[in-house]
Amino acid sequence: MTRHTWGHLPLAGDQLDAGSPDFVRDPYPVLASLRAKGPVLWHEPMGVWLATTHDAVSQVLRNRAFGRLWTDWEPAAQMEPFNALHRNQMMENEPPTHTRLRRLVAAAFGRGHVERMRPRIEQLAASMVDELGKSFDVLGDYAEPMPVFVIADLLGVPREDHVKLRDWSQAIVHMYEPNVGALTKKAAIDASTAFSDYVRDVVEQRRSSPGDDLITDLIEARDDGTRLSDDELVASVVLLLNAGHEASVNVFGNGFHALLEHPEQLARITGGEVPVEIALEELIRFDAPLQLFERTATADVEVSGQLVRAGEKVACLMGSANRDAAVFEDADVFDVGRDPNPHVGFGMGVHFCLGAPLARAELQISIRTLLDRFPELRLAGESPRRPTWVLRGYESINVEVAS
Ligand code: HEM
Repeated sequence: MTRHTWGHLPLAGDQLDAGSPDFVRDPYPVLASLRAKGPVLWHEPMGVWLATTHDAVSQVLRNRAFGRLWTDWEPAAQMEPFNALHRNQMMENEPPTHTRLRRLVAAAFGRGHVERMRPRIEQLAASMVDELGKSFDVLGDYAEPMPVFVIADLLGVPREDHVKLRDWSQAIVHMYEPNVGALTKKAAIDASTAFSDYVRDVVEQRRSSPGDDLITDLIEARDDGTRLSDDELVASVVLLLNAGHEASVNVFGNGFHALLEHPEQLARITGGEVPVEIALEELIRFDAPLQLFERTATADVEVSGQLVRAGEKVACLMGSANRDAAVFEDADVFDVGRDPNPHVGFGMGVHFCLGAPLARAELQISIRTLLDRFPELRLAGESPRRPTWVLRGYESINVEVAS
């Protein structure tokens, strides 16, 4: 097939090998060499264009000629529980379906839920910090349960269910990595089935006894006379649970780890020079927890001088955009005082993260509460990385209180 490369050479397969342990450990040198080659490059092994720069990523995410076009996984009959959760939610749809779904969910969200959650998150963070000893895993013991508790409270489901909610969610999101195997698929189907049944039961309960939670508001949300269908309601709740915790855990982990590796930056926050609100944006930018979002061209379209043909896919390399020296001075330097900080961490365009205000509130509170209690935390040993690149994070981060 002819590629319209206009000066960009096709890449050799080893230059972005998402499965390579070296790349997973530190993707940034490879991403920098890709940016140096050009803003939009053809990647033969994945069969997609790579948008490498902040400008190219922004163009793709904002241009309505690019869409998130969902195609059901095959074999469709077996994959149906997984497919249905994706086909029926806003993130995998484009206008007009996206507009309708997003407006309905945003309307429910907009009923003061985030504001109401603030004091609850503060209480939750304080009580969780009380349980921490002199050395602990700041991910497993603190950052990981927190967002599931928050989203569970928001939706009005029991906090005790957080382990199974997290397990289902992780089984589903493993499907977003390249090269998915049979076991991953089977786990995702089982998790989708169990998760959907769970949410359907909660929806039934709320129909008979409404509460002041988001699920009740989602049931009641109307838009020009239409409501969310049952399948859309289930898919939206699962989306909120998945989106609401996977990224938050990894922002905390990647960002906090960077902070512990740069004690002089940590001291700028604990010493009061840099407010947590400003620092958080650098924690989101520096080591992106969501490294890749894909779009498909619905028409021939030019991006940064490169023609992308209708039907071709573009992978937006978010971690690369966030290290682009054309936008960020000393882009590879971790600077908690960086302001302005126009990172692409929450995306752009119509799919811009619906949960960004909640995520920001939750992360600001959890970081502030932890640092208020333990201003002198330090790393205790190596922190193992998760073996995945697209959803980038740590397995655990052991820390100790400096005495
Ligand atoms: C720091 C944590 C978070 C990060 C970094 C993050 C990032 C993102 C990004 C990059 C997108 C855009 C995806 C795309 O363009 O294809 C997105 C979409 C979305 N996020 Fe988040 N997110 C976070 C937390 C949350 C939370 C807490 C919630 C909800 C409770 C949430 C709900 C959503 C939803 C519903 C969408 C889909 C929006 C749409 O398709 O219109 N996110 N998020």
